[in-house]
Amino acid sequence: MKRITVLGATGSIGLRTLEIVSSFPEEFSVAGVAARGTTVERLVDIARKYAPQAIALLEPEAVDRLAALLPRPRPELLAGADGLVALTRDVPADVVVSALVGGAGLLPTMAAIRAGRAVALANKETLVMAGRLMTTAARHHGVPLLPVDSEHSAVFQCLCGHNRRDVHRILLTASGGPFRELPKEQFATITVDDALRHPTWKMGAKITIDSATLMNKGLEVIEARWLFDVAPEQVQIVVHPQSVVHSMVEYIDGSVIAQLGVADMGVPILYALTYPERRPTPAARLDLARVGQLTFFEPDPARFPCLRLARHALEQGGAAPVVLNAANEIAVAAFLDRRIAFTDIPELIEDALVDVPAGELESIEACVAIDAETRRRVERAVAARAGRKSL
Ligand SMILES: NC(=O)c1ccc[n+]([C@@H]2O[C@H](COP(=O)([O-])OP(=O)(O)OC[C@H]3O[C@@H](n4cnc5c(N)ncnc54)[C@H](OP(=O)(O)O)[C@@H]3O)[C@@H](O)[C@H]2O)c1
Repeated sequence: MKRITVLGATGSIGLRTLEIVSSFPEEFSVAGVAARGTTVERLVDIARKYAPQAIALLEPEAVDRLAALLPRPRPELLAGADGLVALTRDVPADVVVSALVGGAGLLPTMAAIRAGRAVALANKETLVMAGRLMTTAARHHGVPLLPVDSEHSAVFQCLCGHNRRDVHRILLTASGGPFRELPKEQFATITVDDALRHPTWKMGAKITIDSATLMNKGLEVIEARWLFDVAPEQVQIVVHPQSVVHSMVEYIDGSVIAQLGVADMGVPILYALTYPERRPTPAARLDLARVGQLTFFEPDPARFPCLRLARHALEQGGAAPVVLNAANEIAVAAFLDRRIAFTDIPELIEDALVDVPAGELESIEACVAIDAETRRRVERAVAARAGRKSL
């Protein structure tokens, strides 16, 4: 029986992971769950159904509400950022599914690695922020970082059984998001509802906006650089609207190996949990005759400047990816709150990247400090833009 801790248990990836646990009750049990605490009722259901040893919530008031709703004996309840770290560090688990959204996942995911627990990684922002530190720690503790992102799971599968020295490049596919064909002049009028309408994947709000700006693909380039230990220029993007080819690896002899499947996150989640084995699932099957055509395009950096910004941050290195990620998180949250326009998102990130602290990132603490300072800076820039708009 594999014991699983799910960070972000109430989110899109977290709930899908719990469904998989339910489908394989003889294989998996839930050791711990963590969330922010937005939907306490959902956590009550999770506690009843999966009987985790502990639950950690970022918001202490949510812990009080949960305690009032859960009769004893109940799971151990942990609160705040320290509570999330204690969960992954102290509660015995074989795999920690890292599926919080954003930088909030950094410290609990690092704690899981330091405690020697395998990590199934969905929370790409953590690897964007601290790629070198996190992969070094994983190697040091002998901990596998198993990709959950469908593109990275695809690359991982295309690499199996091959010599890493023979990799020429990695081709990450991108659906292109809802604005793949929208003329540049119309980007300024994009609404939150427009941007939340993703053509192929149903996901949490932040990643859906990232998919609309294509920052998601930029973050994935950085994620791939670290997960697969390749040079930045070896990771390239190709737009593929059908989302059937999940990604590809091209080898030095010109052979390209691709992984294909239906758009269902259950498949990469299950593979991360059972790797190197596979399990039969009732998931829908790919019917290529029905799909008919697979098409591929170059991405358009003029309409999607986030691609250029992410690439720039990766090449600059040091603290630049931390600044990129923090600025993006604040800008996306402000867009979702309807305080700024869609086109303000890349502008705020570009402004933030002008001022990146020099030098290598020596510690997670340094990373956390730069993240916090960037968030403050970009919040001020958002307030200034929102103020100008309301004048
Ligand atoms: N969804 C997908 O198909 C998909 C695919 C590939 C990769 N990913 C990646 O997986 C991660 C999760 O995505 P998602 O779509 O599952 O997100 P989501 O549906 O928005 O869920 C986010 C989860 O994180 C928790 N959370 C949010 N902010 C937090 C904070 N500040 N501190 C602690 N917990 C917090 C939420 O708790 P509450 O519910 O209590 O707020 C929720 O459990 C992201 O990094 C995303 O890029 C997602």
